[in-house]
Amino acid sequence: MTRVFALTTRGLEEVCADEIAALPGATIEQVAYRRVTAICGAPLPSLLGLRTVDDVFLDVAAWPGIVRQRGALDRLCELGAQLGLHQAAAHCAGVRTVPRSPAFSVTANFVGKRNYSAEEIKQACAESIAAAHGWAYAPDDAEADLNVRVFIDHDVAFVGVRLGERPLHRRSYKQVHVPGSLKPPVAAAMLTLAGVGPGMRLLDPCCGAGTILIEAAQIGAVAQGGDCDPDAVTAAQANIYAAGVSAGAREWDACALPLDDGAFERVVTNLPWGREVQVDAALEAFYRRVCAEMRRVLAPGGRIAVLTSLPHLVAFPDLRRDVELEISLFGQTPAVQVFS
Ligand SMILES: C[S@@+](CC[C@H](N)C(=O)[O-])C[C@H]1O[C@@H](n2cnc3c(N)ncnc32)[C@H](O)[C@@H]1O
Repeated sequence: MTRVFALTTRGLEEVCADEIAALPGATIEQVAYRRVTAICGAPLPSLLGLRTVDDVFLDVAAWPGIVRQRGALDRLCELGAQLGLHQAAAHCAGVRTVPRSPAFSVTANFVGKRNYSAEEIKQACAESIAAAHGWAYAPDDAEADLNVRVFIDHDVAFVGVRLGERPLHRRSYKQVHVPGSLKPPVAAAMLTLAGVGPGMRLLDPCCGAGTILIEAAQIGAVAQGGDCDPDAVTAAQANIYAAGVSAGAREWDACALPLDDGAFERVVTNLPWGREVQVDAALEAFYRRVCAEMRRVLAPGGRIAVLTSLPHLVAFPDLRRDVELEISLFGQTPAVQVFS
């Protein structure tokens, strides 16, 4: 049995907990702000297949007394010197290559205001861990064999060692980005909330770099999408190719889709919302027209999931809203809504 914690996008904690709980032998211990702790009896590599979490860590310590005053840096130094990482390194070596004397990086973040920075937390922990273990500190995570994560919530620092080589949210298929491109775990969570499954016909009418299409194709959906921006379509096609999945992406106007009525069992999209993406038409008129098109192409009994920071502009008069979930993304608080 191994205790692990996953870090998540704020607002998606329950979706992530459900995905972890579905692993054989996994028991959820705690669902907290941006963090899900679980005891895992399943083989550890199964954790690397999680799609909705940002990343997953072997739980190595929970340090209380990490106050907001600068004295906390000395405490972090002391606790870092007592930290034992050899067992976590051995667990990681069970799923991937880890040298006997690994180079390690430290990633730190915290909730709330502090009189010190994430960089200072990293320094405090890195120096003491390096001294205690005789391991080299790699400031650049890309050069490290192990990543130590320090996540401070209120007065407790949760310390973990990343199980995988790279963060789970960083999918190798994301070769080309476009403005407002979605974090893959958020796309995966939208698909879960919309109940997308293998064989379902799925549409993303504003596909950007294709994140939703690829995540959907990877779970076996028949995904099709498009975008009005030819660069976005090229990016989506490149990413689809890199992912090695089959999905269509073409140039179109989401307000006049060249698609048959009732052709899709699921429509899942991340609509433009002004700050990252310029919309030509007035935003309200655009939302009205694109919603009407998404409704037109939806098959009877189908579902629509929309992510936007303008949820009040999303309306389907004859559908029921089953889910409204506020999340944190790009420093904003958009909502995922699911209609059926
Ligand atoms: C928030 S982005 C989508 C990002 C995408 N989910 C991803 O992961 O890359 C919104 C997209 O809507 C597209 N868009 C804006 N107006 C559109 C229209 N009338 N028809 C089709 N796409 C449109 C933009 O070009 C942009 O790529």
